[in-house]
Amino acid sequence: SYLSTLVRSKGFELGAAVRTLTQLNEHNYSKIFTSVTPENLLKLEGVLENIDQQKYNFNSADAMVDQALNKGFRVRGHALVFGKASDMFKAPDLDAWLEQFPEHKRASILTDFMLKHIEIMLDHYRGRIHEWDVVNEVLDLFGNGDIEENVFYRYVGPDYIKLALKAARQADPTIKIYINEQFNNYTDKRAESFYQLIKSLVDEGLPLDGIGIQGHSLYNLAPPVTLKAYMQRFEALGLTVEITELEARLRLFNSAKDPYLAQGEYYRDIAQQCLEVAACKGITFWGYNDATSWMDDLYFLFPKPNQPYLLDHNNQVKPAVGLLSELLSSF
Ligand code: G3I
Repeated sequence: SYLSTLVRSKGFELGAAVRTLTQLNEHNYSKIFTSVTPENLLKLEGVLENIDQQKYNFNSADAMVDQALNKGFRVRGHALVFGKASDMFKAPDLDAWLEQFPEHKRASILTDFMLKHIEIMLDHYRGRIHEWDVVNEVLDLFGNGDIEENVFYRYVGPDYIKLALKAARQADPTIKIYINEQFNNYTDKRAESFYQLIKSLVDEGLPLDGIGIQGHSLYNLAPPVTLKAYMQRFEALGLTVEITELEARLRLFNSAKDPYLAQGEYYRDIAQQCLEVAACKGITFWGYNDATSWMDDLYFLFPKPNQPYLLDHNNQVKPAVGLLSELLSSF
């Protein structure tokens, strides 16, 4: 039977980040996946039509969300407050936009903008999207666990995370609120600092239902077993966990006799850790097939082969799919 059928029967979710409607309509998509995360369409860059008037255009985002829902997929909302500091991915560039306003007004302008954005998005997707990455990537990507001093941090202030969580709960009390973070390692200072941050939010009683562990392996692999122990710490806080952006570049398996197989075994081992933790509800790969990937777009940073997904360039299943099926059958 199909992997997606097996996944559903376990009450689990298996998803992909989807860039285009074409990917969503590929015949293999529904045989493998149960969930869809629009890769970019639900971001500010996907919905904002006019920043000065804070005017939205939901045409592209709605086309994907509704198509996904009509096909019976769960849709994960990604991402409401995403203040990436790096220039490469700043769209729109909120720093540049704020410069036209007198300095003393920027804090209130960006705070209002952020709160209104959360409200507009959750209002628009009420009843359609039930899990949201409300705050995305709060930590400095290459740091030791410091909060990234992104545009929201600098203008709204260090409390921007708490403000965003509260606004989300107020806008739609029924959604599951996630904070989503990227890790290369689940045992280092950065991972510890993320845990402490989340724990303090929970202890303060802020509205938070789960955490997303992205799981991009760009330069090295984290041993899957360390992921399990890490997830269990969040489970003990009463939170749900999802692996939200899994991918491991093929070049990390170059020394293996069969790199595709080794990649598949790595994904199977990650999935096993997740299945062994009751709080872990799903896994999403950060792309659909090897024909397109954000890392190939940035080939000057991420030399090929990247090929991190479950399907190859020709949309044929890779060994990972069979290995995941075997694993799920055994649970
Ligand atoms: O669609 C336009 C296209 O019309 C234009 O010709 C082209 C020129 O640069 O840009 C295209 O948009 C780009 C889009 O990717 C689609 O390829 C954007 O500029 C670019 O900023 C965007 O990058 C995305 C990035 O997030 C920033 O939003 C990546 O696709 C996406 O994979 C990446 O995903 C992030 C997660 O949201 C958070 N975690 C890390 C992950 C990987 O960086």
